Formats: sequence, structure tokens, C-alpha cells
Amino acid sequence: MHRSDDIANLFNRLGASVGAYQEIEPQYDYNEDVAVVAHRPVSASANVPAPAAEALATTEPNDSRPLSRLLRELEQQREREAQDSHTLDAGRAALKAKVIALVSTQGGVGKSTLAGALGSALKRMGGTTLAVDLSPQNALCLHLGGGEQWPGLAQAYPHDRDPRQLLREGYGGSQCLAFGAASEPQRLAFEQQLAEDPLWLGRQLAALDLSEHDTVIIDTPPGASVYLAQALEIADVAVVVTHADAAAYAALDQMDRLLAPYRQRPDAVQCGVVVNQLDTSRQFSLDMFAVLKTRTSLPLLGVIHQDHFLGESLAYDRNPLAHTPSTRGCQDTLDLIESLCHLLTLGTQES
Ligand SMILES: Nc1ncnc2c1ncn2[C@@H]1O[C@H](COP(=O)(O)OP(=O)(O)O)[C@@H](O)[C@H]1O
Ligand SMILES: [Mg+2]
Repeated sequence: MHRSDDIANLFNRLGASVGAYQEIEPQYDYNEDVAVVAHRPVSASANVPAPAAEALATTEPNDSRPLSRLLRELEQQREREAQDSHTLDAGRAALKAKVIALVSTQGGVGKSTLAGALGSALKRMGGTTLAVDLSPQNALCLHLGGGEQWPGLAQAYPHDRDPRQLLREGYGGSQCLAFGAASEPQRLAFEQQLAEDPLWLGRQLAALDLSEHDTVIIDTPPGASVYLAQALEIADVAVVVTHADAAAYAALDQMDRLLAPYRQRPDAVQCGVVVNQLDTSRQFSLDMFAVLKTRTSLPLLGVIHQDHFLGESLAYDRNPLAHTPSTRGCQDTLDLIESLCHLLTLGTQES
């Protein structure tokens, strides 16, 4: 094979143009127009991580940048990815407690009600359960016996208040970290901060020195948001709360898309579905439930029947699991708690 063929093949494989090839004349002093980066040798056996490989794939076919520059840019890209993933891994590792995030694409499906119930009744290995409200609606505190006077996370920013000062005791010996009654400018500034710092919540929780026996329950607003991203960044388990109806069916793919990046990372978040407010007196609800079960790719973690005692408890400032523990909805919630504890134990053994 000719030397010119070799060169053409090499350039084609790199997505570059043969026109960029220049013979080096030893008598000339070459000055390449590249930013100088600290050189770090790359192991010959190292796999090229997908995003770095993508950076190469997006090189224009007639890109005239010298080969050495393309290779250096790839190396810089790899270094940035390794640094980012190291920072995130270290951040997650600093938080020893197990984290359960309640998520949904729709509002009104019962996330806050369920987060309150899990907060008050879930106990793992004698540890504490901390209920964290990441929803600007600031309703979780109400489900745990508190009110708007409880301080919250939105008020911790920008002053970096010690999160321990924000803890309040809720039903069943739980701890609650409320969202806090935030003004509109406060909420927007808080969201901006969360968008720029994916591990902000992880660090606040790590500062609480929770142990591996403790459990964190996070309530989130519906759909894609900076709050959902913060919760999924540190979640061991994501509980997708849904109704058995046509709107939930239509939203299944959207939920899959939202969860996909967190299910694909090495320490993948475990995901499951909870069908809430199932009305067994209606054939339509039962049929929708049957269809949802076959259609979703996620395991079913539990079913909570429609139980008006759950809603009424909020009106009367009562903890439903202490006041009416034998109702259908409360019994379903206790079954769900058992499933979640089992899932967290399995996850711990595997890791
Ligand atoms: N299992 C249930 N049975 C009956 N009503 C329920 C049940 N779960 C939640 N609800 C009611 O549904 C409404 C919405 O619940 P909420 O927890 O605020 O939803 P989300 O936080 O998802 O917006 C509330 O009125 C609540 O009392
Ligand atoms: Mg809510």
C-alpha cells in the first residue's frame, strides 16, 4: 500500500480531511496554534469514554485542525469528564444514608401525601427518617404536623445556613427539612443555584452526618425540574407515583426519558412504580391498572387504594398511620414501606 493511501485512511478514520495533511520540513520552525495543556500520558489500554468519542465523531469532515490538536482536545475532554464524575462520586459517597425520591410527571397523584406517610412510618435498622421537601409548594411539612412557619431549604440559600438549624421534628419521630415559604425572587435565585450545582442538596444532606441506617425521603414537584435533577442525582430508589388513568398512560414515555440518564450511570438509581388512589369499585380503573402494569418497563413496588381517610387526616392535623392505621390506604402504605426496605437492603448487599 502507498504511503498516501495510509495517510488518507488515517484522516478518514478521524473524520478529518486529507487536505489538512502537511509534510513536515525539518528546516522550518513550526508553531501550532493550540492552547498548551499539562500533558498527562493516557494508557494505551484505556477505553475511550463515550462522550469523548462523540467529540471526535462531531469533527467536521473537512476540519483543517492539525491531528495533534484533535488528539489533545480529546485528551482534555477526557480529563474534564473524569474530574466531573470524580466530584459527583465523592459527593454521593459522602452521603451515607439511603435516599428514596418520590417523582411523577403529573401533579396531584399523591407524592406529598405519600412522602409524609413514609417519613412518619418508615424505619430502617433503628435509624432516623428524614423527609425533605424539594417542592416549592412547601406542603410536606403539613403532612408531618408542621406549618409554613417551619424554616426550609430555600431559605438556606444564599446564606449557606447550617442545615441542622432547619430540621424540625415531624410525626412518628421523623425529621423534616421543609422547602420553606419562599418569595418569588428567592425561589428563582434558589433554582438558579440548583441548576449550577447538581450536588447542592447532596452536600446539605452530607453536612447532617447521617448514617447508613438513616433514610431520606425526598418529595419533588411534577415533571422535569432542577428539583427532580437534584433528587435523582443522589437517589438510591426513585418511586414513580401515578394514578391508573389515561393521563398516566400517556405520560409513561416522558417518565422513562426523565429517568434514563440516572438509570444508565454506574451506580444506577433503582426505579419502581406505585399506583396510588386505585378505585377498585370502577372497572375502568382496574382495566387501566392492568394496562399500565404490562406497558411500563419498571417494576411495580406497590398499590395504594383510594382511601379518603388519608386526605381527611391532613384536614384534621392528624398522622393517618397513627390515627387510622387499619384503613386500606394505610395498610397499603405499610406494605409499600416493607417493599422499599427490602429493595434498599438488596441494593446494599449488591454494592
Ligand atoms: N390513596 C389516596 N386516597 C385518597 N386520596 C388521596 C390518596 N393519596 C392522596 N390523596 C389525595 O390526593 C390529593 C393530592 O395529593 P398530593 O399528595 O398533594 O399530590 P402531589 O404531591 O402528587 O401533588 C390530596 O387531596 C390527597 O389528600
Ligand atoms: Mg406535592
